[in-house]
Amino acid sequence: MKTRIEQLRAQIASELSSELNREEFKKLREKYLSNKAGEIPGLMKEMRNVPKEERPEFGKIVNEFKVWAEAQFDEIDSKLKKAELEEKNKKESVDITMPAVKNDTGSLHPTTLVKQEIINIFAGMGFDVFEGPEVETDYYNFTALNVPEDHPARAEQDTFYITDKILLRTQTSPGQIRTMEMKKPPIKVLSPGRVFRSDDDATHTPMFHQMEGLVVDKNISVCDLYGMLDLLAKEIFSGDTKTRLRPSYFPFTEPSVEVDVTCCECGGTGCRLCKGTGWIEVLGGGIVNRKVLENCGIDPEEYSGLAFGIGIDRITMLKYGINNIHILFDNDIRTLKQFKQQGR
Ligand code: DAH
Repeated sequence: MKTRIEQLRAQIASELSSELNREEFKKLREKYLSNKAGEIPGLMKEMRNVPKEERPEFGKIVNEFKVWAEAQFDEIDSKLKKAELEEKNKKESVDITMPAVKNDTGSLHPTTLVKQEIINIFAGMGFDVFEGPEVETDYYNFTALNVPEDHPARAEQDTFYITDKILLRTQTSPGQIRTMEMKKPPIKVLSPGRVFRSDDDATHTPMFHQMEGLVVDKNISVCDLYGMLDLLAKEIFSGDTKTRLRPSYFPFTEPSVEVDVTCCECGGTGCRLCKGTGWIEVLGGGIVNRKVLENCGIDPEEYSGLAFGIGIDRITMLKYGINNIHILFDNDIRTLKQFKQQGR
């Protein structure tokens, strides 16, 4: 019997010493330890054939052998479990050195950035925003703004007509009329938006952007206009930008002015951009013509107003040194990305 046990012991040790997978291990364990047909429980069954006085000794030996065998199997079992766990962790682990999938975020268009900047500056002075329709009537775009039929100013704005009374607005000035019809003074409003003219060259596109400004209150004067636009220029360009007003003509303002700022390229000493003058024209404005106030039911004896119209694309080009307006409409990703890089 002892030799049989030693044989089995050697057999188990040798079989367990080779690389086993879980399946092979399970089979071996059954072969030796299964209660039904296992070799070691089989030894126990032979107890019957052993003389009575030898049975305790026999039982002890077989039992010890069984404990030894179980320990051998348990050891391999835990080794296998460890290897399996490592394999599982390896599969589930994430390689943090792998480059991430790039998630390209977009950026706001420079024209939008400048529009928002202008709105923010005027919001600080208490202005509201009103956006009028792009398809307008002849009345709001021209007549109510003191541009009656056959007025030469109509011919200057190459209008896209839809019918003879409906058109694509050529300016954001109709926003003034619509606001004054809706609201009683005091009024402080900005009216930004797209405008359309049949015009296309290096400085003109058929669609461009304007921002109308309107203030109606008691005792509004050119000084108020100057103060607001000077602040705007300093905020948009730089703190040392100077502003000047030049007399001009618009049917809806009287007096009318054109507003120049010191050249943002040379600072006022004279360069190619400002054609050596040191000044650049940036917008038009003036004191609201009393006829326009009357057209909107506002008494010009009691109230006065100031108005201005800013070309947003033009300001954008000046601010960022863009020399062709078409660059703003090409939507070339290489151009637009530069505005993101500036953290804008
Ligand atoms: N609407 C004018 C244009 O498109 C700009 C303008 C000038 C607007 C003077 C105004 C203003 O409100 O007072 O050229």
